[in-house]
Parts: sequence; structure tokens; C-alpha cells
Amino acid sequence: MSLNNERNGSEESYELHDAQIHLYKHVYNFVSSMALKSAMELGIADAIHSNGKPMTISELVSALKLQPSKAVALHRFMRLLTHNGFFTKTSEEGEEEAYALTPPSKLLIRTKPTCLNTVVGGALHPCLSDMWHASKKWFTEDDKELSLYECASGGSFWDFMNNDLQVLKIFQSAMAADSQIFKLSLKECRNVFEGLDSLVDVGGGTGGVARLIHEAFPHLKCTVLDQPQVVSGLTSTENLSFVGGDMFHSIPSSDAVLLKWVLHDWDDEHSLKILKNCKEAISGKGKEGKVIIIDIVIDEAGDDRELTELKLDYDLVMLTMFNGKEREKKEWEKLIYDAGFSSYKITPICGFKSLIEVYP
Ligand SMILES: C[S@@+](CC[C@H](N)C(=O)[O-])C[C@H]1O[C@@H](n2cnc3c(N)ncnc32)[C@H](O)[C@@H]1O
Repeated sequence: MSLNNERNGSEESYELHDAQIHLYKHVYNFVSSMALKSAMELGIADAIHSNGKPMTISELVSALKLQPSKAVALHRFMRLLTHNGFFTKTSEEGEEEAYALTPPSKLLIRTKPTCLNTVVGGALHPCLSDMWHASKKWFTEDDKELSLYECASGGSFWDFMNNDLQVLKIFQSAMAADSQIFKLSLKECRNVFEGLDSLVDVGGGTGGVARLIHEAFPHLKCTVLDQPQVVSGLTSTENLSFVGGDMFHSIPSSDAVLLKWVLHDWDDEHSLKILKNCKEAISGKGKEGKVIIIDIVIDEAGDDRELTELKLDYDLVMLTMFNGKEREKKEWEKLIYDAGFSSYKITPICGFKSLIEVYP
């Protein structure tokens, strides 16, 4: 279907105008992202949530303590955000329009466990957008190991995070927030964890997922392995412990290893090393052991356009930050078999992620 509804010219001019709309839309995609970040920083969703009913622009200006002179600007921000599905407008006959929350803006409510504000703030942090200005330079550098982030800033993103506790906190909080959504999926995939006595969550961050698994399976002995600076200061309990270490060096023995949102940070060579160490870690359990991977599986033929776009966006985020990658089914299969495993099973979960059970 054509983007340009008003057809008055030649086919050539329709095509040109449709092309222009398409191109401009992609040029200005960042405006939608930044307006969302503004809404998050202003706390618009929190204000509407606390109010208990839809709010007009003047009520929002007053609740958020904004300058009354910015009411018109706020209305324009809300118009775009409403168009993009973050709010809905309700209006009674003769009354001022009021804005209500939608499921996506409910994910911006600070007091809810499903709040994703840290993901919005982390993903739209200037350090991640600034690097894109160096992409031409990066493409002309002949260094396979160099990520775009390193090319732009002179150091790896891991070093940047690990040398600045504030930044490390932002990104670990974003990971922890994303993991809360996993609570719902855990109900659907309980069988994956049933029958296990021990599990190591490799690259498990501050333990967001391990805590959810521990709550659902209190008898299961969960260990979170992450970099020492990430787990230092976290308190271990009887069945939930934190270990500082290096997954490229060794992984504690257990019945199962969980790798959630970890392998996409790494290229195939590094991922192979991690998977081989996982295989070693579960070897004591014989054929009963397993590795549980939670990551994206790109499926352009099976997924709808919007879902594929998100997965492909993520692929470039991983490429530019870490030289990592999102993988198609055949790429996962190659990695799994190259690491010496004999079979695997993919189950889609979590909206855009999949759970891959991998067997020795
Ligand atoms: C993208 S985060 C995923 C965190 C967590 N699994 C989740 O889903 O919320 C990747 C994690 O890998 C950890 N990591 C990076 N290098 C590591 C290493 N050599 N050994 C152990 N963990 C590492 C990072 O500190 C980070 O917590």
C-alpha cells in the first residue's frame, strides 16, 4: 500500500514522495526514542498512575511541577507519544482532553516490579548513541577485534562500565529490570527447571533471574557467577550464592548452567569457549545435565516485521557495543554442535527471546 494518499501526479512523483516519507521517517526515528526518554525522566506515567485516573495537560503540568509556559510543548510531546501507543486520550463532551496509560507506558511506573525505566535510560545513554558517528571510520579500520564502541572511544565497553561504578550500576539495573519480566515466562517454562538440584547462572549479574528461580524452586541450589566487581557486596543465603569469577576460565560444577542474555555479547569464538566451559561444568550429571540459553533467535520468515526489526536492531546494538551478535537458528545450531553438544530444543518465550535447552 502507498504511503502517500493524495495521488495527483505521475507514478514517478508518487514513488519519489513515498521514498521521501520512508527516508525521513527513518531519519527521525530517534525523535520517538528521545520523546519516550523525556516522558520517563519527567515521570509522566508515575503522575497518571498516582492520580488514579486520566490527567489533562494542565493537571500534568501542575503535578510534574513544570513551567506553565511549557504546557503547549507538553501537549505536543503527548500527541506524538499517544500516536506511538504510549498513552490514550479520553475526552468527555466539552471537557479538556485527558491522557490515560497504555500497557507500554505502564512499564514506566517506578513503583512496579516490571518498571523498565533503567532500560530506557541505559539504552539511550549518550555513550551508546555518540559512538555511531564513528561508524565510517570503523568500517575502514582493518581490525576484526575492534568494536565500534572501542573505535569511537579508545577503550572497550566492558572497561568503560567496570571503571565507572555509576555506569556499571546503570547497566546492571537495566539488566535486572529486564529480568523481572522473566517472572511471567518462568511460570510457562517451569518444566525446564524441574528435577534439577543445582544451577549456575553464568553472567547472572546481580542475581535478578536467580532470585526468581530461587523463589519458584526453593530447594534448587542456585549460584550466580559474574565478574567480581559485579557480585562484590551481594549477600549469599543457603540456596542462593554469589561467586566472583571468569566464565572464560572456569564455571562451578552443577546439574545445569543458565546463560541468559550472555552469549549475544560475544562473537562465535568467545561463545564457543563459554559453551565448552558450560559443558565441562555439567559433566558430573552425565546425559541428564543441560545448558539453558535465553537469547534472541532471529527468524525473519516466521516472525512479523515489527518483531524482526527489534531483533535486528538488537543485533546491531550487540555488534557495535561488544562485537557480539544475535543469531539465527542455523547459527545457534552450529555453535551448539561445535561446542560438542548432541542436541537442543528451542522454545520461544518472553515476547522476543527464546529459551534453548542444550544437551550433552
Ligand atoms: C548482558 S549481561 C546479562 C546479565 C543477566 N544474565 C541478565 O539477563 O540480566 C552480561 C553479564 O555477563 C557478565 N560478564 C561479562 N564478562 C564476564 C566474565 N568473564 N565472567 C563472568 N561474567 C561475565 C557481565 O558482568 C554481565 O553481568
